[in-house]
Amino acid sequence: MPQSIVILTGAGISAESGLGTFRDENGLWAQHRIEDVATPEGFARNPKLVHDFYNARRIQSSEAEPNAGHHALAELEANYPGEVLIVTQNVDGLHEKAGSQNVLHMHGTLHGALCHSCNHRWPAPPEMAPNDPCPACGAPTTRPDIVWFGEMPYDMERISNALARADVFVSIGTSGEVYPAANFVNEADMFGAHTVELNLEPSSSVSRFAETHFGPATQVVPQWVATEISRTK
Ligand code: APR
Repeated sequence: MPQSIVILTGAGISAESGLGTFRDENGLWAQHRIEDVATPEGFARNPKLVHDFYNARRIQSSEAEPNAGHHALAELEANYPGEVLIVTQNVDGLHEKAGSQNVLHMHGTLHGALCHSCNHRWPAPPEMAPNDPCPACGAPTTRPDIVWFGEMPYDMERISNALARADVFVSIGTSGEVYPAANFVNEADMFGAHTVELNLEPSSSVSRFAETHFGPATQVVPQWVATEISRTK
């Protein structure tokens, strides 16, 4: 029975594509207050500030290219006999740009817009502004389709089911600081998965992993993928 692999990715896998991480030195949370730009309260208080923050990141993300880490994961999905699911905390579209198809965006996506009156979703324009009318209901209640702090991440039931079935759980480029993603390694381990951390440096959850490889994602991810694919030959 081919194995199933669940891969959690964080900002670190996109760092070498030029997109900022959050908690590294000079990361996004060193430049902006989370409560101002990544909470529903911040959006209600100053929607223009929040749109400007995501507009800048949306344009930067559109101009960024996937790196060898993203491409290696797309190659794994294409060449692995079992299921490969990427659960990403990232809101950039670089996994899809690299060719990955089985991707869940648990924190939403910069390239989606949401109406919080009628829950309509559509591809976000390059720039969004306060009071943009919803294309479906016309209400001026549109927002980036991003999961903010205090909101429920997307696809949690599907993620839990995948973790319960996983033979291998890999965490790439995440600090292990934010829940529920930081608990996925414990869930996978509880169901008997082999757990792997691929990161620039040990994360807060490093002790929970059976196997660790440290270095830039463009090096450690292709190396790990090559080993995993060779195991199936
Ligand atoms: N290669 C691999 N790992 C890297 C690289 C790299 N080139 N550069 C940085 N890293 C690692 C850092 O060592 C760190 O462990 O990536 C991790 C980035 O951690 P964070 O900045 O905390 O980002 P992330 O874990 O994705 O944050 C989780 O927090 O603010 C919320 O919603 C936001 O999705 C985000 C969540």
